[in-house]
Amino acid sequence: MTDRMTTAAAQTASPAPSSPGAAVGDEAADATIAAIRADTVGFLGGGHMGRALVAALRRHGHPAAQILVGEPGADLRLALERDLGVRTTADNIEVAAAADILVLAVKPQDMAAALSPLQATLASRRPLIVSIAAGLPVARLRELCGAGPGTALPVVRAMPNRPALLGRGASGLYAPPDIPPEARARAEAVLAAAGMVAWIDSEMLMDAVTAVSGSGPAYFFRLAEALADAGRAQGLPAEVAARLAAATLAGAGAMAAADADLAGLRAAVTSRGGTTAAALTTLEAGGLERLVAEAVESATRRGRELAQAVPDSTVKRG
Ligand SMILES: NC(=O)c1ccc[n+]([C@@H]2O[C@H](COP(=O)([O-])OP(=O)(O)OC[C@H]3O[C@@H](n4cnc5c(N)ncnc54)[C@H](OP(=O)(O)O)[C@@H]3O)[C@@H](O)[C@H]2O)c1
Repeated sequence: MTDRMTTAAAQTASPAPSSPGAAVGDEAADATIAAIRADTVGFLGGGHMGRALVAALRRHGHPAAQILVGEPGADLRLALERDLGVRTTADNIEVAAAADILVLAVKPQDMAAALSPLQATLASRRPLIVSIAAGLPVARLRELCGAGPGTALPVVRAMPNRPALLGRGASGLYAPPDIPPEARARAEAVLAAAGMVAWIDSEMLMDAVTAVSGSGPAYFFRLAEALADAGRAQGLPAEVAARLAAATLAGAGAMAAADADLAGLRAAVTSRGGTTAAALTTLEAGGLERLVAEAVESATRRGRELAQAVPDSTVKRG
């Protein structure tokens, strides 16, 4: 897949050493986000992901007055206002009327209900639409936004992952060919606030993005669990083994975030004939590479199945 992906500048910067809680790539992300400094960013949905993206934009200095969240939950609205200072409303038409960029952060099955009352407003306002909903293709999103042939709204799809909640996400982005570079840059800015971004040039590959980075955190957690269990089997107290495994996962993750040369990182911690080499030889002999490939293939296939399973009222496959 790598030859079909281009990695955005937001990925490449090193960690900001002066700000311990800052996400990797913050300085590059700041520069990327400058592209939308004048934009009002509207959100449909202020749940986990909506809130994570709002928080990320605020962390990078996007003005609170230029963020408006449409969210039915009064508690979530209150928390967004209190914690992040942004404006919220239960009226999505207000959001659609104000937004230069409209981020769709509702569940896929809620998308039709969320968008259909907005069609007239969207047709006149014509914001850039950025959807983070799993499994909803651009063509269907455009239909739900109400645009007819020749008047389709600019829609970009993104697939972030859970670490976006900490500003350490990894997002795949897809824009259809008719989206101009300026609109791509603005969509990228929204996601770059929450971590690394990579463009893919085929919408089909969104399922592979989901299988690698969307589901990926769980693979590493599972490996760390197995590592802790194995440490316990070698005599470590369970709690010590679990803490060692989790801290090792975090430390290795921080190293990988600063340097994407994974093979180089591995080589640097593997002495010839040493303990690490012995363990890696065992993992390879056990079929690690094949197993991971099969796991990612299963996840990709499941992503396709789930997209087909979104109710017909929301997704039409052509
Ligand atoms: N969570 C992830 O790790 C993740 C990763 C990648 C992509 N995504 C995508 O991100 C989207 C949101 O996921 P999430 O985990 O943030 O879900 P979530 O926590 O349930 O947030 C969605 C929010 O949207 C609200 N909502 C429902 N109908 C609405 C409407 N008509 N207008 C405005 N808001 C409405 C929901 O309110 P109610 O609860 O009251 O219905 C809820 O607060 C999904 O499409 C998902 O596929 C999520």
